[in-house]
Amino acid sequence: MPDPSELMTRLGLANPVIQAPMAGAGTPALASAASRAGSLGSLGAALMPPDAIRQAIQETRRATDRLFSINLLLVAPPLIDPARIERMRARLRPHFERLGIDPAGIPPPSPPPFGFADQLEVVVEERVPVFSFAFGIPGAAAIARLKAAGTFVIGAATSVTEARQLAAAGVDAVVAQGLEAGGHRATFAHSFDDGMIPLPSLVGEIVGAIDLPVIASGGLSDARQIARIMDLGAQAVQIGTLFLACAETAIPGAYRSRVLKGGETVITRAYTGRPARALRTAFTDDLDGDAEIPDFPVQAMLTAPLREAAAERGDAFSEYLPMLAGTGVGHGTAGPAADVLDRLTGRR
Ligand SMILES: Cc1cc2nc3c(=O)[nH]c(=O)nc-3n(C[C@H](O)[C@H](O)[C@H](O)COP(=O)(O)O)c2cc1C
Repeated sequence: MPDPSELMTRLGLANPVIQAPMAGAGTPALASAASRAGSLGSLGAALMPPDAIRQAIQETRRATDRLFSINLLLVAPPLIDPARIERMRARLRPHFERLGIDPAGIPPPSPPPFGFADQLEVVVEERVPVFSFAFGIPGAAAIARLKAAGTFVIGAATSVTEARQLAAAGVDAVVAQGLEAGGHRATFAHSFDDGMIPLPSLVGEIVGAIDLPVIASGGLSDARQIARIMDLGAQAVQIGTLFLACAETAIPGAYRSRVLKGGETVITRAYTGRPARALRTAFTDDLDGDAEIPDFPVQAMLTAPLREAAAERGDAFSEYLPMLAGTGVGHGTAGPAADVLDRLTGRR
């Protein structure tokens, strides 16, 4: 393992691994297991209503007395365009029919009953040790409130431009998300294409441009890769996909087996409307490049019935599950997260 970095010392970490926030997949059990192992465990809370976030924070606190992180996504209110939604529904009809779903019975997309501001309120009230965010930058007042509550604040960037904006907004550290990363692109200041930068280049550029700790994220799956990216100036790494199939995650069985097996990943808007790296499927192929896909999160609302039905139907319908995963997919284990961390930190 490399020498402890300034960031590791500041967060009291025994190793430079941050178990990535993964909304919908991670759990308090995963975050607390990672923190107990001397890493920083994270809980991706973006899909959770405020009350559930409070409960999850309390559950994590009961399971570990070490630092952990809560993560939220800055999602703009959805743009509801009825004509476009109708066209996409028609486009999706064969997929609904395959699963025996009557598209006429699906309620129209509507804004969610809670937003980032409501979720953030809980994070501030609960004085969480570390808060991370992606898809944008909270206002200066929100960052100041978090810091006044003693919270360490981390923002995600896919370019030097975004890293500079985060530094100017007063964050404590920046996640550099390389093009290899599983999940949604964090891009917020320019086109998604301009944020598709290989991790080693991105880390080198951001380390040279800002005076804050940089956390490397995307496609990392072994101790050698971690050492190499830290040689480029990263002070920690944020790893998601490698933990996806662990015993502590909450993902459908078909997704778990595909993640363990590995495979080709693509950047797709098919599932949610926002570019995300996921395992390639017949569904991603079918919608590839379709200009009619409504923006995030409207497409996620339209495809929700496919996801829900597929989660109960096993491997044959796994193409309808958004199997978000990075380029390092296939190197994980179904065992406990502590085993993955032992492997990553050279203890095994
Ligand atoms: C299933 C999944 C869900 C994710 N959800 C979030 C999230 O809620 N918030 C976030 O900031 N990043 C999220 N990410 C991105 C991760 O934080 C991280 O950038 C990525 O996992 C790193 O790349 P890797 O998966 O190749 O290790 C997610 C990634 C995956 C695979």
